[in-house]
Amino acid sequence: MRVAVCGAAGRMGRLVVKKAVESGLDVVQAFDVVEVGKDAGELAGIGKIGVPIQGDISKLDADVMIDFTVADAAVENARIAAEKGVKIVMGTTGFTEEERKELEELSRKVPFILSPNFSLGVNVFFKVVEYAASFLSDFDVEIVEMHHKHKRDSPSGTALRVAEILRSAMGRSLDIKTCREGLSPRGNEIGVFGVRGGDVVGEHTVFFFGNGERIEITHRATNRECFASGAVKAALWLANVDKPGLYSMADVLGF
Ligand SMILES: NC(=O)c1ccc[n+]([C@@H]2O[C@H](COP(=O)([O-])OP(=O)(O)OC[C@H]3O[C@@H](n4cnc5c(N)ncnc54)[C@H](O)[C@@H]3O)[C@@H](O)[C@H]2O)c1
Repeated sequence: MRVAVCGAAGRMGRLVVKKAVESGLDVVQAFDVVEVGKDAGELAGIGKIGVPIQGDISKLDADVMIDFTVADAAVENARIAAEKGVKIVMGTTGFTEEERKELEELSRKVPFILSPNFSLGVNVFFKVVEYAASFLSDFDVEIVEMHHKHKRDSPSGTALRVAEILRSAMGRSLDIKTCREGLSPRGNEIGVFGVRGGDVVGEHTVFFFGNGERIEITHRATNRECFASGAVKAALWLANVDKPGLYSMADVLGF
């Protein structure tokens, strides 16, 4: 399995290079707009692997592309990968509705795994939240997420995914509200709030509020290895998938 890593000089990209090499995948290309020319293995702390960072994504030539960049770049990378028949593992978050639709269109051309969170724990957390919500349709629900100060998108892709899960599991139409201020009382809504600071890797809490009681379900990531390992697992899973389509981490994990 020949893998290209996009965003290979970033926090996630470096770890993906490391985990991919450790898992026996053949990392053949690494793309980024910074650190061009440097060896991707050296940046990842595993020593030279003979793969320099390249800046020109049009040179993409691999079986699968793993992308952890920024939303607008990721859409362009996915366009090029789909054109060339390269399978896609997309970890980048922060897409607009329009961009997300375009990614869905591109998944008609190649097998495409799109996941706002590749950790095993978060994917189990999705299931636990869905199960709890199915019993608590009258409760008020809110989501609070916390991430490091460099994170661009807010709320996180994971929090928005949880909001979608809650909306469908609770069986009633709920607005997703990402800001609350002024004098109006709480409406028919799910509040989704982002807290940013320091080096927090990623935390998500769902609050279910009833009368006289409250349930809180929390996932905490304490380092990024869980995301990188999950993305590599997703790439390995794609080795046996030839049918174009949009797949999720739930498919990879067999949930
Ligand atoms: N799905 C998951 O499990 C998961 C987990 C963690 C982070 N993320 C997401 O992954 C993305 C990256 O996160 P990060 O913390 O590694 O960010 P980062 O800023 O450390 O890394 C992003 C890298 O992408 C590079 N880049 C920007 N434009 C590019 C382009 N056109 N071509 C190639 N490279 C380009 C940047 O130079 C940078 O090195 C974010 O959207 C984040 O929310 C997803």
